[in-house]
Amino acid sequence: MRRVAIAINGQRVEREVAPRTHLGDFIREQAGLTGTHLGCEHGVCGACVVLLDGQPIRSCITFAVACEGRAVTTIEGHEGDPVMARLRAAFSARHALQCGYCTPGMLASARDIVLRLPTADERQVRAELSGNLCRCTGYQGIVDAVVSVLEDLQAQPDAQVEALREAAARASQIEFPVAGAVGSPAAAQFQEFSRADQVVDRELHQAGVGVKAPPQAPGAAFARSAEPAAVIRDQFELPCPSDQVWALMSDPARVAACLPGAFLTGQEGDRVMGGVALRFGPMQAKFEGDAVLALDPPNRRARLQGRGRDRMTQSRAEGDIAWEVIALGDQTTRVVIEMRYSLQGPFAQFSRGGLVQEFVRRIVQQFAAQVGRALTASPAGTASQADLPSDRTPSFDQAPDLNPVSLMIGMLWARLRRLFGTRD
Ligand code: FES
Ligand code: FES
Repeated sequence: MRRVAIAINGQRVEREVAPRTHLGDFIREQAGLTGTHLGCEHGVCGACVVLLDGQPIRSCITFAVACEGRAVTTIEGHEGDPVMARLRAAFSARHALQCGYCTPGMLASARDIVLRLPTADERQVRAELSGNLCRCTGYQGIVDAVVSVLEDLQAQPDAQVEALREAAARASQIEFPVAGAVGSPAAAQFQEFSRADQVVDRELHQAGVGVKAPPQAPGAAFARSAEPAAVIRDQFELPCPSDQVWALMSDPARVAACLPGAFLTGQEGDRVMGGVALRFGPMQAKFEGDAVLALDPPNRRARLQGRGRDRMTQSRAEGDIAWEVIALGDQTTRVVIEMRYSLQGPFAQFSRGGLVQEFVRRIVQQFAAQVGRALTASPAGTASQADLPSDRTPSFDQAPDLNPVSLMIGMLWARLRRLFGTRD
């Protein structure tokens, strides 16, 4: 058991809870605030959305211990909030309430939309609300209500709402923490996130998987975060000579062509531009940005450090990926991959260690299969972009789907295999 203290709606709530207790249960069972509803408890339906330090998060996939010392606002805590007052009135006027089960989460997400996207139209409101499911399926009234609040505010701006928007915009401008930025608000957020993922790191260390990355490129703009990010390690083996594997693994265009959801939009020297598209159930994000590649050919090691932003959700990602190509024999090569990453914004709610680990495991499997196919198609390592397996347009059709149910099943299956000492 762990003692946790969280400020919920301005009241300090301190309790002893199991480390696995999620914030939704803490709010309902320890704080006695039952306005926060739990539907899927998999991070999909959005019924449990509350504000954590002013940002909407899914309380069912946020550990209570990760919220130590932070401020949570539930549906009961919006008394006096000018945006919520408008939304409540609009929901009533537009018949957006049916059984009301989804309503607390809908309102929390709608408030975020009103603050973050003052000019959003109906299409954009629908896209933004796609992470909140209404089991009564009455979306029209809900969307109408949010759009009407936006239109009213455009027709007649409200000074209190404008002040909240400015504060929200300032919060979204927080840049990624860089070396030496310890103590910045962004670094503090990464610190919380990283602690929750130490378990993943430990488990993989026990598996004995690791890679010595080349040092950061001299001109690298993206120093690793001062606080440790979550770390995932994995490896795969190919029945190919290591020269061929290294030729592919040291070419960003060929690597991107084999990586599900990845796309390259340009390359200038050691700087590569592009991104990755992801889907998580009904939510999707396309992180676009740039990265710096450092190669260490004598030791066949590479390191890619970059960051990107999803324009739609304003989620931000920072990644530091290192890989090493190891010859195990004339025709057998092992590739060891180590990935450090941090997520901020709405997509960070899907950063729970087990889910991400399972997701990355699947991506690595697909990547290994694509590399194998690419090398078989062009063993001399001369394949051009056109020879490579997938379309390079940044489309969600090629995005790997973080289907939450199948990922959970995969996670449980992996744990059972570990428990009984069996392998794939
Ligand atoms: Fe949290 Fe469904 S209960 S997203
Ligand atoms: Fe019933 Fe949305 S109003 S679930």
